[in-house]
Amino acid sequence: MKKTNPFKFGSVVSGDYFYNRTEELQRIKQTLAGGNNITLYAPRRYGKSSLVKKALVELEKQGFITIYVDFMSVYSQETFIKNYSKAIAEGEKQSLEATVKKIAKLITGIVPSVSFDSAGLPTFSFSWIQGSNKEQTLIDVINLPQQLASDKSKWIIAFDEFQEVTKLNGERFEKILRSCIQHHNNVSYLFLGSKTHLLQDMFNNRNRAFYNSASIMGIGKISEEKSIEFLTSRFRDTGVSIDKKIAIYLLRSVDNIPYYIQFIAFEIWQSAQLNNINVVSTTDIDKALETIIQLKSDYYWEMINKQTSYRKKVLYVLSCGVQEIFSKETTNNYDLGSVSTTQKALDVFIEDGLVEKMDKHYILSDPLFKLFINNNL
Ligand SMILES: Nc1ncnc2c1ncn2[C@@H]1O[C@H](COP(=O)(O)OP(=O)(O)O)[C@@H](O)[C@H]1O
Ligand SMILES: [Mg+2]
Repeated sequence: MKKTNPFKFGSVVSGDYFYNRTEELQRIKQTLAGGNNITLYAPRRYGKSSLVKKALVELEKQGFITIYVDFMSVYSQETFIKNYSKAIAEGEKQSLEATVKKIAKLITGIVPSVSFDSAGLPTFSFSWIQGSNKEQTLIDVINLPQQLASDKSKWIIAFDEFQEVTKLNGERFEKILRSCIQHHNNVSYLFLGSKTHLLQDMFNNRNRAFYNSASIMGIGKISEEKSIEFLTSRFRDTGVSIDKKIAIYLLRSVDNIPYYIQFIAFEIWQSAQLNNINVVSTTDIDKALETIIQLKSDYYWEMINKQTSYRKKVLYVLSCGVQEIFSKETTNNYDLGSVSTTQKALDVFIEDGLVEKMDKHYILSDPLFKLFINNNL
């Protein structure tokens, strides 16, 4: 019988592919169920979306109506209205026809309807009313969950990659959203995002609309101990053994970042099947790293070649894992320019998502890219 790979990466994971995060899950669920808003932040690929989807599934079981909207796919006020009204209509537990009737009364500016997708399933769609006030329509859509919710049927709404709202009409959209949702007593909101500095500014800066509107929670990496447990048992269940020391070697080779742990484990498992290996060694891990880096090398070169020569130098310094990039010692050892020039380069990297700033240290967000730079620059 052909076995399926016990590891999974890329999209949201659930079921047996998901491990740990029990405390975070508990806290998120409690906050939301208690009617409060919460903001979660962590770098990309730490497992925010998976964690939140799991929380939503469990809250549904407790009787809440839950909605998930990803701001990555929202590029205008119109797409927000479209995606959000659809998510709300289809999230409501009643028949879609009944919901559409209700919505038609609550949102000015659109005519909602039920259409059928290629599989014959009912889906929500609408047409715009010409000449209507778009801002009023936006306000109506934002208020929709509160209109549909009640004391007995509370709603929970997750906005993923929420920092992207600033793309929409600058701070105007933010202000409208905030001024509406502060009156939603039967709806709790969960804001999550990857661009830590942007998100923190939105919620911690007095001059921003969302200042102080939610409790803020950072999501860290998963403890090594829990990851070792996960790796050993997933390998063991499919007939492969991995020693604790080797598992630690694997985890550290990818800086303990959840996505890369599963990525590399997936590759190792696959090659173990092909080559009839039943005990994982460090050589297998190194080979898997090499294979993945090889696969991504075109992309990595593209990222590098986009940079100015000074930025290439800074990338190389980061790939060496230096802790104090602004110190005299680093400046001398790597022949760096002024602090402000280096700072500018780092700001560009952070903006592009190549680098994360953590407790004053700058870290390349992709551990494989880090290896690639170190080997090639
Ligand atoms: N709790 C977890 N258990 C197992 N794998 C996880 C977990 N969290 C994240 N991962 C891994 O990381 C990948 C990215 O997770 P995702 O939730 O999309 O992260 P984010 O939203 O923070 O970018 C998943 O596909 C999975 O491989
Ligand atoms: Mg995500």
